[in-house]
Amino acid sequence: MSTATRPVKIRGTGSFTPSKVLTNEDLSKIVDTSDEWIYTRTGIKERRIASEEETTSTMGAEAAKKAIAAAGLTVDDIDMIIVGTMSPDMPFPSTACLVQTQLGARKAVCMDLQAACSGFLYIMEAATGFLCTGRYRNVLVIGSEKLSSILDWQDRTTCVLFGDGAGAAVLSLAEEGESGGIIDFSLGADGSNAELLYMPGGGCAIPASESSIQQRHHFLKMRGREVYKHAVRVMSQAAIEIVEQNGLRADQLSCVIPHQANMRIIEALSTRLSIPIERFYLNLDKYGNTSAASIPIALDEAVRAGKVKQGDKILLVAFGAGLTWGAALVEW
Ligand code: ACO
Repeated sequence: MSTATRPVKIRGTGSFTPSKVLTNEDLSKIVDTSDEWIYTRTGIKERRIASEEETTSTMGAEAAKKAIAAAGLTVDDIDMIIVGTMSPDMPFPSTACLVQTQLGARKAVCMDLQAACSGFLYIMEAATGFLCTGRYRNVLVIGSEKLSSILDWQDRTTCVLFGDGAGAAVLSLAEEGESGGIIDFSLGADGSNAELLYMPGGGCAIPASESSIQQRHHFLKMRGREVYKHAVRVMSQAAIEIVEQNGLRADQLSCVIPHQANMRIIEALSTRLSIPIERFYLNLDKYGNTSAASIPIALDEAVRAGKVKQGDKILLVAFGAGLTWGAALVEW
């Protein structure tokens, strides 16, 4: 086994969101809410909802095709697929295996990794580790979620916040003499707060039964206020730590791509990091919180809009169920 010391580059990105738009106005016909309440509390205007035929794997495969094309590669070049999701097509096999067959990427080793909304940063660090073994050349990382399938559409405190979609990237080692790449990661977790945001049913603790369905155990549950407080604290800590540990100043970052959960959380982060909000890439008004898909969709949009250029230093930062959190520094 050879171990490589060259940095890992993000070779190409892609994203996919379903065409069906659900506006705040539409939601006010389903639950007792209003555009005013949702927008002022979260910054969300609308979200995308997958059709019956669209699943976490099909959306992930569409995002992946664009990422592979952007990287100038073909499916035969992909030797590993890692999917980050908390809404897999099914408990097993992994969504990554389902994506593999849809892509025809027969040479790829496949697995899922579950770190909720921090999932994309976790799979990026996992991919980096695999690439550094020297055994894999191109790892496809995908954050994909069909959260509409696990939302309680009678619970106005959660169903207004989330949406569906997928984002992907191809990672590989930098060539000899090539500049840029992933500089560092800082991940964290605190399982003692698992019940702030969870789905109790569907696993071995509460398998599906008539009673589990009656008790609505197969839907996402959240204590929003507590999650909010943790989110602001852990995201700012992770971001400040990673910037300082790498001898950088916040003003040297060209762009921050935060997990798109709530505008007020992002504004608090902007204040704590002393980075103007204009340098944050934001799209939560269009998609809501798409969990593991949120950062890769935003990254892909930012890259395609020319907001991330060669040599730019960018910060990705997320938090989610677990609780989990993470930050990544990248030189483009
Ligand atoms: N429409 C209208 N009223 C509502 C709605 C709604 N959709 N939801 C709640 N309310 C009401 C509540 O019932 C409450 O009414 P009451 O005062 O009469 O009891 C009132 O609004 C205030 O409710 P709070 O929950 O205290 O509202 P808050 O200001 O905290 O905002 C929110 C709620 C937006 C959920 C906020 O707490 C938040 O953003 N938390 C973080 C959530 C988050 O980002 N989660 C994602 C984690 S990432 C992952 O891994 C999935």
